[in-house]
Amino acid sequence: MTLQHKLLDWYMQYHRKLPFRESHDPYNIWISEIMLQQTQMDTVIPYYERFMARFPTVTELANAQEEEVFKMWEGLGYYSRARNLIKCARIIEDDYDGVFPDDYEKALKLPGIGSYTAGAVLSIAYNLKHPAVDGNVMRVLSRIYKMEEDIASPKSKKIFEAKILTIMPDDPRHFNQALMELGALICTPKSPKCSTCPINSCCMAFEMDLQDRLPVKTQKQKNKNLHLAVAIIRQGDTILFTKSDKGLLSGLWGFPSTEGESKATVKEKLMTVLNNELKIEIKDTVEVGKEKHVFTHKTWLMAVYRITSDSRSVCQEKASIKETDEPYDFETAWIALDEIENYAISTAFRKVLKYL
Ligand code: ADE
Repeated sequence: MTLQHKLLDWYMQYHRKLPFRESHDPYNIWISEIMLQQTQMDTVIPYYERFMARFPTVTELANAQEEEVFKMWEGLGYYSRARNLIKCARIIEDDYDGVFPDDYEKALKLPGIGSYTAGAVLSIAYNLKHPAVDGNVMRVLSRIYKMEEDIASPKSKKIFEAKILTIMPDDPRHFNQALMELGALICTPKSPKCSTCPINSCCMAFEMDLQDRLPVKTQKQKNKNLHLAVAIIRQGDTILFTKSDKGLLSGLWGFPSTEGESKATVKEKLMTVLNNELKIEIKDTVEVGKEKHVFTHKTWLMAVYRITSDSRSVCQEKASIKETDEPYDFETAWIALDEIENYAISTAFRKVLKYL
């Protein structure tokens, strides 16, 4: 039996019954594939189910308020995915009659859709022969064929995609998912389960005992520690929140804060922003807690300050921070304590809510 046969037989028998595998609807596949980028399967499943219950078709998503979609995305991270999802839904609704295009080049032009997502949707939903290569699939292929290209290098992806096309059988829908499933269940990054692997007899890494050395992956840059000074400013039963339109957490609500290399300078910077930009008259500042939040490429060491101030009237609704060379704009709002749950707040700033 060929590798393709063995892999497909194994997939048909052992694949997980996941909610987005109940149909081949391109909308369902698209949403699940976007959620599964950067987020673990176990985390994604309840989000996927809630999302589909609220936005069952492209039309509902295209008509959604951005705020509501961000609220549903809260906790999944990488919020640009949520913003692109809405943009993409509106284009699909307007230009493609609400149906995700089955043309690879058209799919690639959509916001937030790269070669992986385009290939995954076109193969799984439409059974078209396109590769869907992410880090997991590169790991699997690198072991089967002893491919030594550095999977951390963006150039390598094309080489793996070309390889897939040379082995793609007539069942791309199941073949691509079988590669993903093998990567998730058997051909794992650490301690792969080679003895129970359905294709171990076709695997060069297994034959040469190289499974712990493949894939080749250069170390990415070390995660950097940055200080964040966070302000809790309360007026009666309301708290001052801000929403930035740029950066990692754009579109999400959080506390006024400043980021930098040292704790003392970010505190200074925070006071300056509160004074000059938000026109808050500071009476007193007390440090009430410390929190840490780890992103993929940086860690925030957060110092939380409770600030007593005068007069809310002067706080503007829109303001601008010149933190770096590029100033960014943000909205401000006094949010009632009992309404905080209605706002999309990043996981990092959720850790601060306990100090209110
Ligand atoms: N990871 C990303 N997409 C997947 C899928 N369709 N099946 C299994 N794992 C995945």
